[in-house]
Amino acid sequence: MHMTPCRFSVAEQPYTYSEIEAIAAYLKSKTRHNPTIGIICGSGLGGLADQVDDAEDFDYSSIPKFPVSTVPGHAGKLVFGKLSGKTVVCMKGRFHFYEGYPMWKVTLPVRVLKLLGVQTLIVTNAAGGLNPAYKPGDVMAIKDHVFLPGMVGFHPLQGHNMHQFGERFTPMSDAYTPKLRDALLKIGKRLVGESMKEGVYCMVSGPTYESPSEASYLRLIGGDAVGMSTAPEVVVARHCGMQIVGISLVTNKVILANDGDGQPAANHAEVLETGKRRAADMEKIVSALVGEI
Ligand code: HPA
Repeated sequence: MHMTPCRFSVAEQPYTYSEIEAIAAYLKSKTRHNPTIGIICGSGLGGLADQVDDAEDFDYSSIPKFPVSTVPGHAGKLVFGKLSGKTVVCMKGRFHFYEGYPMWKVTLPVRVLKLLGVQTLIVTNAAGGLNPAYKPGDVMAIKDHVFLPGMVGFHPLQGHNMHQFGERFTPMSDAYTPKLRDALLKIGKRLVGESMKEGVYCMVSGPTYESPSEASYLRLIGGDAVGMSTAPEVVVARHCGMQIVGISLVTNKVILANDGDGQPAANHAEVLETGKRRAADMEKIVSALVGEI
């Protein structure tokens, strides 16, 4: 029988530092690559991982104590290898809060990556466009985020501070490394022209898409795009001192409160379809960016 993990389980305890070390040590013993760049591939963007040369991959299910992903379109493996001459590790498939994982499990891979030697994290996602100027297929460099679940108590850094990774109080004002964002914007403008945008990513827990009033609220608080991932990984990456660059692929237009009835509803098929249409461009953008890190 398929069991959905439940965040309300009392038996589950967050990983200890030595458990995270053990996962990293296991991977180090199995791969000859020493990655300094980590890439998290979002919905329908797993093709990035297939661009990696000299690849060695590990199904999440084969890694002791690693969580396993449950969403179609998220294959679930770590892929080590070379991209644009740099050694990288890609997460093909990530863990989402809406799947029922606690935040500490959603973000475990980031800490494993840190212990593998990763210094720079490239995070990608599929997102809905809140900014009326955005069109499906646009690419957004994330300049900041609003981590709504984190703000109301679902935060991966709450509880015992793992000082081996970072300090108790982590600033977020510089989380999205400006010089990497500038490099991304330059590359994006060269490769996709006017479709390259820069904006604020709002994270909601999902799994429902936003109601029109929720969407208008997110727009009001400064959001340009909305999705169900990324922010937890970014705060954990910032906590352990990584450089971070975030890229959203705008896969659908989010319906706002004054758009009226009869608008097409957001759906996962459209999200995957736009991902497919833009996959090659996203891959080109990320490989060029890796070349400049
Ligand atoms: N809302 C939330 N998450 C999403 C969306 C959306 O419209 N599109 C892709 N991920």
